[in-house]
Amino acid sequence: MPGIEQSKCVLITGATAGIGHALALSIAKLPSQPQVIAAGRRQDRLNELASSNIETVQLDVDTSTESLKKFADHVVDKYPELDTVILCAGVQHEFDFKKDADVGKLVSEMNINYTSVATIIAYLVPHFLKLGEQGRPSFIVPVTSGLGIVPAPWVPNYSASKAALHSLSISLMAQLRDTGVHVMEVIPPLVESELHDAYGTTEKLSKIWMPLDEFIKLTINGLCRGDAHISAGNALVYFGQFEKEKDKLALDYQLRHDSW
Ligand SMILES: NC(=O)c1ccc[n+]([C@@H]2O[C@H](COP(=O)([O-])OP(=O)(O)OC[C@H]3O[C@@H](n4cnc5c(N)ncnc54)[C@H](OP(=O)(O)O)[C@@H]3O)[C@@H](O)[C@H]2O)c1
Repeated sequence: MPGIEQSKCVLITGATAGIGHALALSIAKLPSQPQVIAAGRRQDRLNELASSNIETVQLDVDTSTESLKKFADHVVDKYPELDTVILCAGVQHEFDFKKDADVGKLVSEMNINYTSVATIIAYLVPHFLKLGEQGRPSFIVPVTSGLGIVPAPWVPNYSASKAALHSLSISLMAQLRDTGVHVMEVIPPLVESELHDAYGTTEKLSKIWMPLDEFIKLTINGLCRGDAHISAGNALVYFGQFEKEKDKLALDYQLRHDSW
């Protein structure tokens, strides 16, 4: 399978912290030296990345579809070699349906973790299909979560948003087969990052999470091999237990649908 060692230009959302930030730095150092474009909201972090020879673009994904279209058009215009997108921007909120009524939090979390991701993909696929017609591979890399396979009830909407993105990834694999557009889903377990800082569980979690360096190493290896799903820890265990057959079953659905 082709992998990101063939990428010429890689856009990474959520590149100002954690997994996205570490992937941006590691991918920029690949022997193939792809151009990396880092996106995120925090300009000071983008400035730091710019000093490591990484292109930057400020982006809040929690916005209108029109703004996301402008963003996608701008990136494709400025970087016509763009052939890879890694969709890493994400937030996680605790939500207790017995107490909480802040539905705005639910809507925004679903928008950041799912709707904006599906929207950016939809706006980039036509460009990637054109590359495919020229015989060039391209790569869509949604970052989901082990909690998209087995939900954590204290972050119910987060888990649902990641289950939605996991499902979308499988459908995209089936739809885009034979086009040269490859989908590789990254399914992290609990990994060292800033994701959990907002609700004060970082100290406890830091005793059990996978170190960021370790996770990035295995993710880069999977992306270079062109693995369809890249996972680790208990996310990998649950993937093996519940998800292994789904790509094939979904492809069977698609093929039957195509022959109707
Ligand atoms: N760490 C884990 O345990 C774990 C486990 C499973 C899955 N994941 C997934 O991995 C991905 C990366 O998470 P992480 O752990 O690296 O978290 P992180 O350290 O908190 O980084 C999250 C990134 O998302 C960006 N982001 C958040 N809201 C945004 C918005 N509205 N617009 C644009 N960018 C936004 C942040 O940048 P700005 O604030 O600068 O915008 C930041 O770069 C997420 O999708 C997460 O769900 C993480």
